[in-house]
Amino acid sequence: MNIKTIAVIGAGQMGSGIAQVHAEAGYEVYLYDISGKQVEKGLESIQKRLERNAAKGRMTVEDQEKTMGNLHASYVLSDVSRAELIIEAASEKMEIKKAIFAQLNEEAQETAILATNTSSLPITEIAAETTRPDRVIGMHFMNPVPVMKLVEVIRGLATSGETTKAIMDVIQTLQKTAVEVQDSPGFAANRILMPMINEAVFTLHEGTADVEGIDNVMKLGMNHPMGPLELADFIGLDTCLYIMEILHEGLGEDKYRPCPLLRKYVKAGWLGKKTGRGFYEYN
Ligand code: CAA
Repeated sequence: MNIKTIAVIGAGQMGSGIAQVHAEAGYEVYLYDISGKQVEKGLESIQKRLERNAAKGRMTVEDQEKTMGNLHASYVLSDVSRAELIIEAASEKMEIKKAIFAQLNEEAQETAILATNTSSLPITEIAAETTRPDRVIGMHFMNPVPVMKLVEVIRGLATSGETTKAIMDVIQTLQKTAVEVQDSPGFAANRILMPMINEAVFTLHEGTADVEGIDNVMKLGMNHPMGPLELADFIGLDTCLYIMEILHEGLGEDKYRPCPLLRKYVKAGWLGKKTGRGFYEYN
């Protein structure tokens, strides 16, 4: 497959990061969001990151301008008809994703691949909204997208080998590493990461150690760049709880039961960095 043009649906933190790395790799990228303001915000954040990279000598000013030239603001979903690959990075809600995929199925080229950046929703169920489940796949980027080297590639029940190969090839051009996984609750990344975070919250809940102590154990003892509680704040405690619930429901074992303290923080609206308070306070 010859993929040259990409459309990204959703211009939030993940969507704009995904748009950036594809534009840097030379793809024409259409960045769409249901809110036009969010498209502008997404492009501005990319511009700022690229300027910082150029100022720090990590890229030339020419490459910075070329990358911005590859990016196009998109205010109508029908722009997806220009793309051979469409990557959805909208809200993590099954109803929203299903509605988007039904629309993409109508608007996209017949041969286009429809990918979702979902962190834990079943690809097979999303694909069932389309008449091309063989061309639907999961492309799970990690946050922050421009920095993290991994993309989890998730095959739904009907995803074809040809689609998987095309996506593995695209990821290689982004200079990232793809890991192919099957469609199972939490896939591989969150199946491993979220129980660790949940266990860190239990460790706090039971008074075994305090917040800084728990994070230092993992940072200094295991060389993790962030401790699990700091990382939970970075990801969003609502997202962590949501993924734990998917693991608990999907795998059915008590070891995936979300910690009551995690639920309490989410109920309090202490969602981490984005609300200014989680396990830490942020100004
Ligand atoms: N966007 C783009 N680039 C960023 C960034 C962001 N949000 N944050 C940091 N960077 C880049 C910058 O280039 C920065 O360098 P400059 O400041 O010179 O520009 C460089 O990273 C280093 O950043 P910092 O010096 O500020 O901090 P750091 O060295 O601690 O690195 C980090 C920050 C890369 C986020 C690092 O702490 C880290 O790797 N943390 C773990 C992140 C992680 O585990 N991500 C996965 C989350 S799970 C997920 O995404 C899946 C899911 O479904 C929930």
